Amino acid sequence: MKEESLQAYLAREVGDATLEDLIDRIASACWKISNLVRGAALSGNLGTTAEVNPQGEAQKPLDLLADTVFSQSCRDSSALAALISEEIETVTWLREGTAGRYVVSYDPLDGSSNLDVDLSVGSVFAISRIAPAGVGTALVPGRDLVCSGYALYGPSTIFVLTFGNRVDGFSLSNDGDSFVLSHPNMSIPVETQEFAINVSRLRFWDETVRTYIADCIEGAEGVRGKPFNMRWTASMVADVHRILVRGGIFLYPKDSENAAEGGKLRLLYEANPMAMIVEAAGGLATDGQRPLLDIVPQSPHQRTAVVLGSRSEVERLAKAYAS
Ligand code: AHG
Ligand code: MN
Ligand code: MN
Repeated sequence: MKEESLQAYLAREVGDATLEDLIDRIASACWKISNLVRGAALSGNLGTTAEVNPQGEAQKPLDLLADTVFSQSCRDSSALAALISEEIETVTWLREGTAGRYVVSYDPLDGSSNLDVDLSVGSVFAISRIAPAGVGTALVPGRDLVCSGYALYGPSTIFVLTFGNRVDGFSLSNDGDSFVLSHPNMSIPVETQEFAINVSRLRFWDETVRTYIADCIEGAEGVRGKPFNMRWTASMVADVHRILVRGGIFLYPKDSENAAEGGKLRLLYEANPMAMIVEAAGGLATDGQRPLLDIVPQSPHQRTAVVLGSRSEVERLAKAYAS
């Protein structure tokens, strides 16, 4: 296979030098974060800080370091208007009132409870554009995103990108400072026999989710007539990457414990970028009933229920909710 670098790919696919530069800056942040994650034990960066993020969750040293690397890498881009980070309370305006410039929403380190046990973590981002009218809002529905992606820091580091029409994956080179196209045109199988949900929350689920999962677990003997396998990594990036490679359904539903907040996962920098990727790969992404990409955000850290993955399973749950 002829190797194509991320830069060569961007020059071929994008045709907008400022956007290419911005994505290249994000990719650089990701390989730097990958190195930080791999060196965390020896640099004394495991464990937890005394700080909490805007959602009241304890911050790990690497959550903060990854946020700094991400924002420092992006902020000198003249194309950037604002940053929205999981770790920062308010929108960070860099070039205010700048129609046509970009907003990057990001989760610098996703699944960070996995860090101390050396399991996969990742980074997630979405790029949107300030409306030509220059309204100046950084909050746009997922349907209006320009580009989304994630980096998975697993056995290898993979950078996955979409502009909405296809999904391509790039592996970090052995030198650790460049990405090379390795997973062209990723697509999610329509049918699956694998689900991902945190089953310890079963007592909080609504009847529809309970029935859906119970039917899966009954396997060949139940109404589904086929066995299902389960995986839950506690890192959405890792779960979504698995679904992109071999199919599956991922659920973090609204339940009786998280309902007041609207769910657990954050719309702007977790749900929407993943929804854009999943739809571009032929899957579906909903809050159980409606497409995630159609939700109009009201605040930077807004939460939502998330059900995404193989089309047939996501549709099955949506139909169950509708009836
Ligand atoms: P983050 O580490 O950025 O806070 O995100 C963790 C998220 C997501 O990646 C994962 O699917 C989910 O939280 C795990 O939640 P549980 O601990 O409830 O399983
Ligand atoms: Mn996250
Ligand atoms: Mn995070």
